[in-house]
Amino acid sequence: MEHDDRIVATRLKKDEEELEVSLRPKYFNEYIGQKGVTDNLKVYIEAAKMRKEPLDHVLFYGPPGLGKTTLAGIIANELGVNLRITSGPAIERAGDLAAILTNLSDNDVLFIDEIHRLNRAVEEILYSAMEDYALDIIIGKGPSARSIRLDLAKFTLIGATTRAGSLSPPLRDRFGVISKFELYTPDELVEILRRTARILNVPIDEESLNELAMRSRGTPRVANRLLKRVRDFCQVKGTGAIDAEITNKTLKALGIDKRGLEILDREILTTIIQRFKGGPVGIDTIAASIGEERVTIEDVYEPYLIQAGFLHRTPKGRVASEEAYIHLGFPLPEEGQLSFSTGTDTLAD
Ligand code: ADE
Repeated sequence: MEHDDRIVATRLKKDEEELEVSLRPKYFNEYIGQKGVTDNLKVYIEAAKMRKEPLDHVLFYGPPGLGKTTLAGIIANELGVNLRITSGPAIERAGDLAAILTNLSDNDVLFIDEIHRLNRAVEEILYSAMEDYALDIIIGKGPSARSIRLDLAKFTLIGATTRAGSLSPPLRDRFGVISKFELYTPDELVEILRRTARILNVPIDEESLNELAMRSRGTPRVANRLLKRVRDFCQVKGTGAIDAEITNKTLKALGIDKRGLEILDREILTTIIQRFKGGPVGIDTIAASIGEERVTIEDVYEPYLIQAGFLHRTPKGRVASEEAYIHLGFPLPEEGQLSFSTGTDTLAD
């Protein structure tokens, strides 16, 4: 399957991008969930505004689709400043970043998505920009080369990444606020879906909201995507209002099961159970077996599989849980053979 066609796809198609932008909450009072992150940010924003200073640099990390860009937009709106959005891979040369930085005004917010993908030369420009609001430029080549320092506006950098661990320590150390985004609870997703349905002007019953929330792998982007697909089915094959019947029909057509797992989730678990006796098995081996990139499995699929209790990360590798066997209909291994009982979830491979 093409990555972009998956319900969990991380890249957005053009129409989805437009939808996401139009659905995005603009202020804190519309933003649902991530209380741990937003409660603290509200204090820092208020303090920065009182001092008439820029907000300290902020790093957001966590799985894709949890609203990191949205929150960056809210921060800029609450501060009453401009927001400039770019991404690590989009900034190819140091000059590209210099052009962006020199166009910022005092207190503006610069958002760099996938900041772990900045190349070294570009990253090094950021150090003095973040620390001293200055740009060191080398003019000329060889013995006559000299460095000049250019003052920048006092801006706030908001970086977002799916993996805080792959940020270089010097860059990570320059963020004053580091916030982790968590997967959303079904109750929070119900509220997000209710809001989206209202904006899209599509009637939906409580049962459907709950069903969609339970099957959205804790991710608003997935929830909103599913809602859009149900709306399509409803328009063509339904009554005009979304009910449980049309919701279940759509989810079935999309290959999303009762626990919100899609084809690749099941493939990951099935591979561990059938080919590696339930694990432990290394992530690279799993990636090679199913023909998927390691980072995609780690960043996109695993967070939900772990939270939902289907997968454990142990120091020796990934292990399928008893729940995974039951959910996928495999007979449980003999007593004492399930290796997950020996290890706790860790960040180790
Ligand atoms: N849409 C996407 N994420 C959202 C959130 N956290 N709150 C409200 N609407 C959203």
